[in-house]
Amino acid sequence: MKTIIEPFKIKTVEPIRQTTPEERQACLEAAGYNLFLIDARNILIDLLTDSGVSAMSTEQWAALMRGDESYAGSESFYRMRRAVQEIFGFRHVIPTHQGRAAERILFSVLCRPGDVVPSNTHFDTTRANIEFSGAKAVDLPIPEAADTQVRLPFKGNMDVEALRRLIDEETPRRVPLILLTVTNNSAGGQPVSMENIRAVKQAADEFRIPLYLDACRFAENAYLIRLREPGMGDRNPKQIAQEMFSYADGCTFSAKKDAFANIGGFLATNNDTLAEQEKNLLLLTEGFPTYGGLAGRDLEAVAVGLEEALEEDYLRYRIASTAYLGRHIADQGVPIVEPPGAHAIYIDAKRMMPHIPSHQFPAQALAVELYRHAGVRSVEIGSVMLGENARQELVRLAIPRRVYTQSHIDYVVEAILEVHEGRDRIRGLELTYQAKFLRHFTARFRLAA
Ligand code: F0G
Repeated sequence: MKTIIEPFKIKTVEPIRQTTPEERQACLEAAGYNLFLIDARNILIDLLTDSGVSAMSTEQWAALMRGDESYAGSESFYRMRRAVQEIFGFRHVIPTHQGRAAERILFSVLCRPGDVVPSNTHFDTTRANIEFSGAKAVDLPIPEAADTQVRLPFKGNMDVEALRRLIDEETPRRVPLILLTVTNNSAGGQPVSMENIRAVKQAADEFRIPLYLDACRFAENAYLIRLREPGMGDRNPKQIAQEMFSYADGCTFSAKKDAFANIGGFLATNNDTLAEQEKNLLLLTEGFPTYGGLAGRDLEAVAVGLEEALEEDYLRYRIASTAYLGRHIADQGVPIVEPPGAHAIYIDAKRMMPHIPSHQFPAQALAVELYRHAGVRSVEIGSVMLGENARQELVRLAIPRRVYTQSHIDYVVEAILEVHEGRDRIRGLELTYQAKFLRHFTARFRLAA
């Protein structure tokens, strides 16, 4: 059979609500054209993020009942740690309420003012946490990633030559860690190859700098390695993931992505001294080291979810359904970041609407129009979210895991093609307010003159 179906059936349904274009226009005006400020009840299909919005499985719901809510030594923690160690292999697993809590603890311990932390591309919370510690976050994507239309298998890779130059210039002492984001979310959700992980590891070893993975979407990255990297096709996703982590000294992880959990995360390391310091900080804001910021039942959901995320049927469907959305719009002329990755499709708004200059936020304008037209919420990843660090003006259509069916996606395709048809009439936006650290959550706009 050629048809790739959703590898699950539906047991519980959650209604979604239709609204009229007039209602949506009123919502937009009240929200200052910021889609984060629109209430979820006014959204029909929500592609704002793939984070924390997965549908949990029957096994995950069943596991919740096993949750051991003991303050110390919870059984649920040990189950979660076993599941993590089986795949990730790190000696210390420190649970946190989500990815950014792991980031804050890691950078508080490792970074000093004046330090520099290179990455293939930092996610916005990662950058903010590094800068909060006084260090500088530097993006070193491969140069080819700048062209959204180039079809390369691993556009998420790090530029290893640029990494070596940076370490030489800054001196290794100033580089407390190297961080590889898999997959590379802010750069079009593109995967990182095993070859690139090995090359970065080699440079890291030469300069004695620890390598960490920002591992939110490790299972999707592993499956794309299997599909696209020569010699990897006969290995299963778990074996590939294990090899990826074998090159790292630790990782941060948001269980809200590739663990199908609605909340959760962890920090992992092989370094005993660091783990001790990290647990001390954990106690201050997250909690005792056997629960972090989580309930016992949340730890159970993560433990089960990690295994499900590496199932082949699931990953095959996940990659195919994202590619389905990408191909159906790109083949009709909508410029997307090529080739489609796993968790999202990114529209190149600048290329689609050259009449809107960057300072009028073409990607924000497009995301607003898509909501006004069809009730579909997406997110801007460009000058609004990343400020002067933006390299592109993208609209991300993130696909929640196991939530929407093919007919939902067909509706999204139709909506995008209609908006694309009328793209010449879309107007840019002027920023009227933006806070320093929470920029895209707080931004407010008006239509440009
Ligand atoms: N790293 C990456 C690559 C991410 O995509 C995210 C979150 C985080 C770290 C932080 O994890 O949300 O659990 O604190 N990304 C979400 C998104 C919010 O929409 O892409 P968190």
